[in-house]
Amino acid sequence: MLEISGLTAGYGRLTALREASLSVAEGEVVFVVGPNGAGKSTLLKSLAGLVKPVSGEVRFRGSQVTRQQPEQLCRQGLILIPEGRHIFGSLTVQENLTLAATTRRDRKAVQEDLDFVQTLFPILRARYKGVAGHLSGGEQQQLAIARAILQKPSLLMIDEPSLGLAPLVIDQVYESLRELNNRGLTLLIVEQSTGWMMNIASRAYILRGGQVVLEGSTDELSDPERLEAAYFGH
Ligand SMILES: Nc1ncnc2c1ncn2[C@@H]1O[C@H](COP(=O)(O)OP(=O)(O)OP(=O)(O)O)[C@@H](O)[C@H]1O
Ligand SMILES: [Mg+2]
Repeated sequence: MLEISGLTAGYGRLTALREASLSVAEGEVVFVVGPNGAGKSTLLKSLAGLVKPVSGEVRFRGSQVTRQQPEQLCRQGLILIPEGRHIFGSLTVQENLTLAATTRRDRKAVQEDLDFVQTLFPILRARYKGVAGHLSGGEQQQLAIARAILQKPSLLMIDEPSLGLAPLVIDQVYESLRELNNRGLTLLIVEQSTGWMMNIASRAYILRGGQVVLEGSTDELSDPERLEAAYFGH
């Protein structure tokens, strides 16, 4: 579904991602794990069109999409939930959700999706008219995922869904991601730690210093020593 080959990207003279090659198949859950500054967010931002790659290629469902505009990529179903979630804190939950769907013309399906996300995340139904900024961190992550669903993703990319959340809340977030994957949604998830990937991912890439240093199925990566060596680079 997604084929990334030799992707290099950065900021001015700084190369944050170096010749990275990764792939995601339809229906898969793929993790990208790496320490601070590894280039994980840069990878996702490149895929969402927010950072323009210097070289390399991205193919999505067989078409070349490298250097397309964010709106174009969104329209094809490549949706990114950025680090820190980026919901509209001063707007209501309802406004956050309906704004996410403004470019859609299939109003009936939008209504169905609005119902679906409130069933998936009952707190959003309970707080529908409430201000989003008053939600807890976990609830805001649920809202961010719900907003992404309103954009009709075929591949959902999430940058550190666990960031700043308590373990129990992270479990809930991952439970909902698993449910979405069961319904056919393909997921590319970035995290700093490998903690949650074993429960949900089929494959993972370890990114360090902008480069893919290890890749494999989660079974292959279950050896902690090998994983640590790649992660810390010794
Ligand atoms: N907007 C920017 N301008 C300049 N340099 C940046 C910018 N964003 C990131 N960088 C640099 O690019 C490198 C990779 O950053 P990136 O955010 O992709 O890492 P990351 O793996 O997501 O890290 P973290 O786990 O801390 O989120 C780092 O050296 C970072 O300082
Ligand atoms: Mg990051």
